Amino acid sequence: MLLTDQLKETVAYIRQQYAITPQIGIVLGSGLGNFVSEMQVETEIAYNQVPHFPVSTVEGHSGKLIFGELGGKKVVAMAGRFHFYEGYTAAQVCYPIRVMKALGVETLLLSNAAGGTNKNFAVGELMIIKDHISFFTNNPLVGKNEDQLGPRFPDMSEPYSKRLVEKAKTIAETMRLPIHTGVYVGVTGPTFETRAEYNLIHLLGGDAVGMSTVQETIAARHMGMEVFAVSVITDLGIRDDENIITHEEVLMAAKEAEPKLTALFVRLVQEV
Ligand code: HPA
Repeated sequence: MLLTDQLKETVAYIRQQYAITPQIGIVLGSGLGNFVSEMQVETEIAYNQVPHFPVSTVEGHSGKLIFGELGGKKVVAMAGRFHFYEGYTAAQVCYPIRVMKALGVETLLLSNAAGGTNKNFAVGELMIIKDHISFFTNNPLVGKNEDQLGPRFPDMSEPYSKRLVEKAKTIAETMRLPIHTGVYVGVTGPTFETRAEYNLIHLLGGDAVGMSTVQETIAARHMGMEVFAVSVITDLGIRDDENIITHEEVLMAAKEAEPKLTALFVRLVQEV
């Protein structure tokens, strides 16, 4: 079945539950789901109800599409996302992003938990993603291209909207919220990196590393969506002392930093 035909069925189902066109799509990373409490929720649809949707399994991902209003805008949020390490293909990971676009979403805001590989970063800080390296992951566009969705060879010179990066920096400044800007390196996981790998990522120009986001950004750009993404630095890769990293620690750091991310996203949604 063609992806475009699957999307038609998915959109038809969603429109039966919620007929309004959302303008902004939001993907909430591990431990970052509370953003939804800022929304006036109108409809929730569990992923396992949606035709052609993969089903989320990992702890900390509640797995539903949440439709509603925020700052005068109609938004759709994904509480929980799909990861390649769960066994989905790169294309499946991006399916919800394609659904958002098919619903009419033009702007995508992504968040994630990431390991810092920049020596100036501290746990709990935020990093606006200005660019990414996706070579260590599978490209979601591999396979036959459906020209209705986007071009065979998409340009990636501005994966993250400069307009939104600048806007977010200004917002952070007025909020007196310290924020970094940097390069995110996508990896498959599920292992955290070895010391040598964190060092390599640093050498390659990466400021943060994580197991999501790059594939979603590629699919979004393929379809011409405007993308903005933020990492919450939940652990530090490059340091000399003991450096054991656990999922629990990542979730806890994300929870603590979450109010900052939420505040930034709320303002950004208002001003997009
Ligand atoms: N590496 C990869 N993914 C991550 C990390 C990390 O250190 N922290 C949170 N997600």
